[in-house]
Amino acid sequence: MQEDDDYVEILPEDLAKKRAKGPRSSVSAEAFGEFNKKENFKARVVPKSADAKQAIMDKIANSFMFSGLDEKEKQIVVDAMEEKKCFKKETVITEGDEGDCLYVVASGTLSCSKIFKGQTDPTFLKRYEAGEAFGELALLYNAPRAATICSDGESILYALDRATFNHIVKDAAIRKREKYEAFLAKVELLKTMDDYERSAISEAFQDAKYEAGDTIIKQGDEGKLMYFLVEGEAFASKVLEGASVEEEVAQYKSGDYFGELSLLHNEPRQANVKARTACCCVTMNRHSFKRMLGPLEEILKRNMDLYV
Ligand code: CMP
Ligand code: CMP
Repeated sequence: MQEDDDYVEILPEDLAKKRAKGPRSSVSAEAFGEFNKKENFKARVVPKSADAKQAIMDKIANSFMFSGLDEKEKQIVVDAMEEKKCFKKETVITEGDEGDCLYVVASGTLSCSKIFKGQTDPTFLKRYEAGEAFGELALLYNAPRAATICSDGESILYALDRATFNHIVKDAAIRKREKYEAFLAKVELLKTMDDYERSAISEAFQDAKYEAGDTIIKQGDEGKLMYFLVEGEAFASKVLEGASVEEEVAQYKSGDYFGELSLLHNEPRQANVKARTACCCVTMNRHSFKRMLGPLEEILKRNMDLYV
C-alpha cells in the first residue's frame, strides 16, 4: 500500500474549465500532435551515482504521482531527475509563474500558500513532507502555477523536467485523478471539500472487490484501512451488549464509508462488515486517512455518535 500526498482548495476558473472539457477532449489534431512529440522524445539524463538513483527510486516508490508507472518508466524518471538543494525560506514555486518542472521532496518540509481572489495576504494550504510531490498542476493542465511553495528550513528536492513529465507521467496521473471524480463528488462525507482536495484523495485510493457474502471487515481485527463503497450493498453487524446473537447495525450503499473507527481511535475493529451483493470498494491506508481526512475528523466523530 502506498503513502500519500494531499491538497486543499478550489481550482482556478480557467483550470476548472479545462478539466470540465477533459484534457484530451479534442481528438485528432491534438492526439496526432501528441503522437509526433512522443516519436521525437529523447529523455533527459542527469548523470548520477547508483546510490543517488536508488535514493530517488525509494522516494518515488512512495509517491502516488508515479504509482501507475512500470519499472522501465520509473527508471527514465529517475534518470531525468535533478537534485536541488533549497535554503531556508527559499521560494521554489511562485504563484502565477510559468511551470517548467515537478518536484519530489527528498528531505525537509515546504509550505504551500495561495492568495485567493479578493485577498491580499496568502492563505496557508498545506505542508509537504519527504516522498510527496508538488508542482504537477501547471504541467498537467498547462496553467500558471496555482500556489506558492517555500522551503521551511533547508530541504532537498528532486526536480523532473516538463518534457519527461509530459511523456512518461502525465497521462497516467490524469487518468487516476479522473477515475473517481464522479464518485467522489457524491460522497456525503466529502461535501465540505472542494474539487482540489477531492481529486487529491483519489490519488490515495486502491480498489478492492468483494463477492456477495464476503467479510470485508472482521470485528476484533487490527484496522489498517478505511473503505468507501463505490458499487453494491454492504452491512455492519455486531453482538450488542447483553445480547447473544449478532445484529445488523448499519447498511451501506454507494457513497457510504466504513472502517474509520479503528483508524481514528487506534483500536480493534468494532463490528463486522459484510458484502450483501457484489461490492466494489476503494480503500485508504492509515497514513493517507490521517493526512487527507484529518480536516474531517470532527465530522467523522459527530457521525460516530449515530452508532449503537
Ligand atoms: P502547480 O500549480 O504547478 O504549482 C503550485 C503547486 O501547489 C500546485 O501545482 C500543487 O502541486 C500545489 N498545491 C497544493 N495545494 C494547492 C491548492 N489548493 N491549489 C493549487 N495548488 C496547490
Ligand atoms: P471499524 O471499527 O474500524 O470497523 C468496523 C466498522 O463498522 C466501524 O469502523 C464503523 O465504520 C462501522 N460501524 C457501523 N455501525 C457500527 C456500530 N454500531 N458500532 C461500531 N462500528 C460500527
